[in-house]
Amino acid sequence: MSDLQLRIDRASGGLAGQVAAELRTAIRAGRLAGGARLPASRDLARDLGTSRGVVVEAYEQLVAEGFLVSRQGSGTRVADLQAAAPGDHAALESLASPTVAYDLRVGTPDLSAFPRRAWLAAVRQVMKAAPHEALGYGDPGGVPELRAELAAYLRRVRAAEVAAGQLVVVGGVAQGLSLVIGALAQAGPIPLAVEDPHSVRTFALLEAAGAVRMPVPVDDEGIVVEELRRTPARAVMVTPAHQYPTGVVLSPRRRAELLAWAAEVDGMVLEDDYDAEFRYDRDPVGCLQALCPQRVVLLGSVSKSLAPGLRLGWLVAPSPLAEVIRTARATSDLGSPVIDQYALAQLIASGAYDRQLRQLRRRYRARRDALAGALARWLPGAVVHGVPAGIQLYVELPPGHDEAAVVEAAAERGVAVEGVAPLRIAAGGPPALVLGFARLPEHRIAEAIRLLAGATTMTGPGRRRPAPHA
Ligand SMILES: Cc1ncc(COP(=O)(O)O)c(C=O)c1O
Repeated sequence: MSDLQLRIDRASGGLAGQVAAELRTAIRAGRLAGGARLPASRDLARDLGTSRGVVVEAYEQLVAEGFLVSRQGSGTRVADLQAAAPGDHAALESLASPTVAYDLRVGTPDLSAFPRRAWLAAVRQVMKAAPHEALGYGDPGGVPELRAELAAYLRRVRAAEVAAGQLVVVGGVAQGLSLVIGALAQAGPIPLAVEDPHSVRTFALLEAAGAVRMPVPVDDEGIVVEELRRTPARAVMVTPAHQYPTGVVLSPRRRAELLAWAAEVDGMVLEDDYDAEFRYDRDPVGCLQALCPQRVVLLGSVSKSLAPGLRLGWLVAPSPLAEVIRTARATSDLGSPVIDQYALAQLIASGAYDRQLRQLRRRYRARRDALAGALARWLPGAVVHGVPAGIQLYVELPPGHDEAAVVEAAAERGVAVEGVAPLRIAAGGPPALVLGFARLPEHRIAEAIRLLAGATTMTGPGRRRPAPHA
């Protein structure tokens, strides 16, 4: 079809790939507009002098990528990409990325498990019972009903020490961290010790809030306090319940050392309790805050238990700091949405929140077991950490593997995984993957790991892949 101006080189092979690439370029350049009908595969094949199978394959590839849509009876058309702003190459590139058949990326819980019915019932109850005045600007530190429910919940489940006035409702751990750092950095940037490696999601926000990150290594007992002592930091951020990403639980000895350090330097410990609800083999390990409420700020959220999109969380801080943070919200955004806060309070008070957690623990335990079993079978040389808790496993690949190449080769097989190198700051370490198991049902996990194992075989010692071409 000459008006499409598809140029292919019949001598160089990979014809379907060439046709797909040419069509992609035409769509991106706007030569083929959204809704435009493509020629029947037979006709285009004739024009290009190829077999029909080549064109069918190219069309199928572009349908999978979202560039084309194919409907019985109405042929193949260019997808309506108006959602992507003109020139929005990032959006188009993401459409071109290989399809993710097995998603083992971390950070997001099973969103299909959101208790829609219970949430709806809670909102209905709020709408029935709340007086009109309740819908005005709430307390910037959180509506009293939710603060009371959360305080009781944290005392009961995390053994936290929470007195009135210490708990502030925030928009997730992320906002809580920004607010705490902002409060601590009022006189200028503060040196903040962080676990190395730690969550890439917090890298930029910590620095934007006024922290200068100082990496401190993590070993099989958690953060190495001896190394922490060598930094000028007077604040440290840790994930004691389940270190992110290595999965280590901070040992009792290190807990004591960390608090002794905080007392010596007159410092603060920021306890990111991001996934503490999920402990499978025994009761949750109590929070660090309970041991020293005057030097620890506890931060948590419903991002793993309900949904990150709610942007609802809490922090528990010594009263003077909590008051500074409450004021910071009063002078910035006037607090979190009140209807969601009342609904969460209602969900906790009714027992539905606890029920949700029990169900999730059962679901995630089964997925964790399936993943650990599949790793033992398909990747027997890997060392798996972090099994007793959380919604991800830390998997050290056998020495000699190229972590980035494994991630790339897995993606080519439709398996999305994350490596650990991007989470490291100063410390090196063996090639490793963090595998999130929250979103993949048990029956699909074995196949995902079989494919991942194939990717490691292709990229293992002595099979390093060439650098990607320009
Ligand atoms: C270790 C860790 N801390 C904090 C966060 C941010 O959580 P939130 O959604 O509560 O802001 C994440 C998000 O994935 C995380 O992995």
